[in-house]
Amino acid sequence: MAKRAPKFVCQECGAVTGRWAGKCDACGAWNSIVEEVGADPILAGTGKQPAVKGRRVALHSLAGTNDEPPRLETGIAELDRVTGGGFVPGSVLLVGGDPGIGKSTLLLQAAAQVASDGSPVVYISGEEAVAQVRLRAERLSVNAAPVALAAETSVEDILATLSAGPRPSLVIIDSIQTLWTSIAEAAPGTVSQVRASAQALIRYAKTSGATVVLVGHVTKEGTLAGPRVVEHMVDAVITFEGDGSHAFRLLRATKNRFGPTDEIGVFEMTGAGLREVDNPSQLFLGERDTASPGAAVFAGMEGTRPLLVEIQALVAPTSLGTPRRAVVGWDSNRLAMVIAVLEARCGVRLAGSDVYLAVAGGLRIGEPAADLAVAAALVSSLAGLALPSDCVYFGEVSLSGRVRSVAHAAGRLKEAVKLGFGQAVVPEAVAADPPKGLRTVAIGGLNDLLQKAFDGADLDRVRAGADSSERAPALRP
Ligand code: TYD
Ligand code: MG
Repeated sequence: MAKRAPKFVCQECGAVTGRWAGKCDACGAWNSIVEEVGADPILAGTGKQPAVKGRRVALHSLAGTNDEPPRLETGIAELDRVTGGGFVPGSVLLVGGDPGIGKSTLLLQAAAQVASDGSPVVYISGEEAVAQVRLRAERLSVNAAPVALAAETSVEDILATLSAGPRPSLVIIDSIQTLWTSIAEAAPGTVSQVRASAQALIRYAKTSGATVVLVGHVTKEGTLAGPRVVEHMVDAVITFEGDGSHAFRLLRATKNRFGPTDEIGVFEMTGAGLREVDNPSQLFLGERDTASPGAAVFAGMEGTRPLLVEIQALVAPTSLGTPRRAVVGWDSNRLAMVIAVLEARCGVRLAGSDVYLAVAGGLRIGEPAADLAVAAALVSSLAGLALPSDCVYFGEVSLSGRVRSVAHAAGRLKEAVKLGFGQAVVPEAVAADPPKGLRTVAIGGLNDLLQKAFDGADLDRVRAGADSSERAPALRP
């Protein structure tokens, strides 16, 4: 028998090389290559003809109707929304997120809910002892739910247990990184182990029709630790995000074979577990300081869901040669662009000022539709004038300074009305037909914004780049 060559596997991307290197050629990660013993059962390419002859499979046409897959609803509406209406039997989901963000809490709540509704649920914890999970269940007041619980890390033992009992509807594995299987010889937590374990559980889900939810850890770089490969194998990847210093948490599908990927679920972490937030705008606008300059309410969309959030800007004189530009919750390149457009097209001078931009509440937004709200917040801070408190802003700014319309304008306006806003500063194309109770201000370009939204402000001073040090943040009289 040929001597088995050593195999080196990148723990970040799963690339296999014949020798160790400090940097992975495939993904560029440093210090991520580890020697793993044993042939990878999945990668094993021997070059020999397979011993089993292939079976002829039926080929189908694309046309034809399918039934909607049946769904296992969890009863947690925000979770069901993200999965696309509940778990699909036989599917595998990967739930990722930072440590301590609340993955175990969410899944235990979901498990308890499903079990209470009468579907058998197995919860397998590889990280915590049964007593710890029980304690959490007690804290969440779900310990009466008939969830079958085990603390186990061996995939073979888990599969044997699952196949022995009645078929569960939902199996939760917390977490995939703690599992190990004897078919891969590498240490637990390595790419080979995680991949082989995931493969075995996926096979179980497909053959048994149970939904399997895998919990995955996230590295400090923000990717699902190690097994990027697992992301390709599962049917849906759901990330649970939020920032530790805020109570709210966002659930987002980044991949979903059975539903949309643009929906978000919003939760609030309370002393008794995660609470669904069905009106997130209210949460994000909760503690608004309407009298200070530099704050503009952005009428955003997350998926099909309107979400109003406050954008805060602070423009302050710089004490450094190169002014600082710091952004929390938005794209810093986008901010640089809005600043450049304000300077080049409207003569607003920000070159000598530090600019800080934050999305209130710790939310991250990625929409270019926030450009107009950012511009309004910047000018408001620079001018020292608070914007009207009952006004929302949205619109994409192009490099020429024009404001372009964005998708879902009607939904954004409707949400603004619902939350009691009376005015909206919007692109021309969407201003014509406002919902009842809302006055729209049409903005063709950023210069219009300066004229119309800062009517009465000392615009010459804004354009001259008023030495902000002379100017206490003035409140509008
Ligand atoms: P956990 O679900 O263990 O996080 P993960 O599995 O993602 O690592 O949640 C951990 C945090 O949540 C922990 O720091 C405590 C907090 N928490 C609450 O605030 N309220 C609760 O009811 C529970 C169960 C946890
Ligand atoms: Mg956990």
